[in-house]
Amino acid sequence: MIPNVLSIAGVDPSGGAGLLADLKTFSALGAYGTGVVAALTAQNTQGVTGVQAVPAEFIAQQIDTLFADVRIDAVKLGMLGTTEVASTVAAALRRHGVRRIVVDPVMVSKSGHHLLSPDAIDTVRREIIPLAEIITPNLPEAEVLLEGQPIRTLADMRLAARALHRLGPRIVMLKGGHLDGAESIDVIDDGSMQVELHADRIETKNTHGTGCTLSAAIAALLPRHDDPIDAVRAAKDYLTACIAASGRLSVGHGHGPVHHFHNLW
Ligand SMILES: Nc1ncnc2c1ncn2[C@@H]1O[C@H](COP(=O)(O)OP(=O)(O)OP(=O)(O)O)[C@@H](O)[C@H]1O
Ligand SMILES: [Mg+2]
Repeated sequence: MIPNVLSIAGVDPSGGAGLLADLKTFSALGAYGTGVVAALTAQNTQGVTGVQAVPAEFIAQQIDTLFADVRIDAVKLGMLGTTEVASTVAAALRRHGVRRIVVDPVMVSKSGHHLLSPDAIDTVRREIIPLAEIITPNLPEAEVLLEGQPIRTLADMRLAARALHRLGPRIVMLKGGHLDGAESIDVIDDGSMQVELHADRIETKNTHGTGCTLSAAIAALLPRHDDPIDAVRAAKDYLTACIAASGRLSVGHGHGPVHHFHNLW
């Protein structure tokens, strides 16, 4: 059966990140994509020039209307923006008994723009993360979630991944894109064991939306794998191929998008 997957995220009009990138990813990986708009942004490959919140009650209405009709097999959460939106989304996911949730705890854009209000961090930590099957923080996000614990080495990452697991998700995927080195290493922790995913760091500035693409790929692939860690591995392989093929696209003058459909065109 073809899985139906939902992204609840912000919109990046340049299509490299957020809901549009999530839908491309779902489509590339054989899932039927649905989307609830949680925030609007004005952005391109060079930066974010503005953010517009969507009323929380209308986000709840979008979710409730969708779930009233469509079977949803997995959900990916991206930019939520505010405390009110985060707790509204958490309540809606609980109301609908959603089990397979990938949480990308988006806080700051690659260009440095704040995408989550500081007072919402605690709501994400307490209400959103415990609902997650998998969370995919990058290193700065992990430092914030762990209240300032610095993460500068692979050894720090291993400790941080375990500490993040105590916040309540089933699996942590701590992304190492922000560390230097020939390899980009991610640490996966399920509370009892750790797995490291090593990938050669690709020399490119086309890394806009890598985090969005990865979390969306995990959500698309979870329903197709018995072991969620196999879904994470397959998602990472897909992302690496998307980054490697990004040079075939010509989109904008800043951090360009990855090529979601490298297998097709
Ligand atoms: N240059 C690169 N080459 C290969 N893999 C990379 C590269 N940059 C990032 N990755 C991988 O991409 C994934 C996303 O990592 P990153 O830490 O950049 O996420 P992020 O900061 O959340 O991204 P975003 O800015 O899109 O939110 C990770 O699996 C990371 O290892
Ligand atoms: Mg990110």
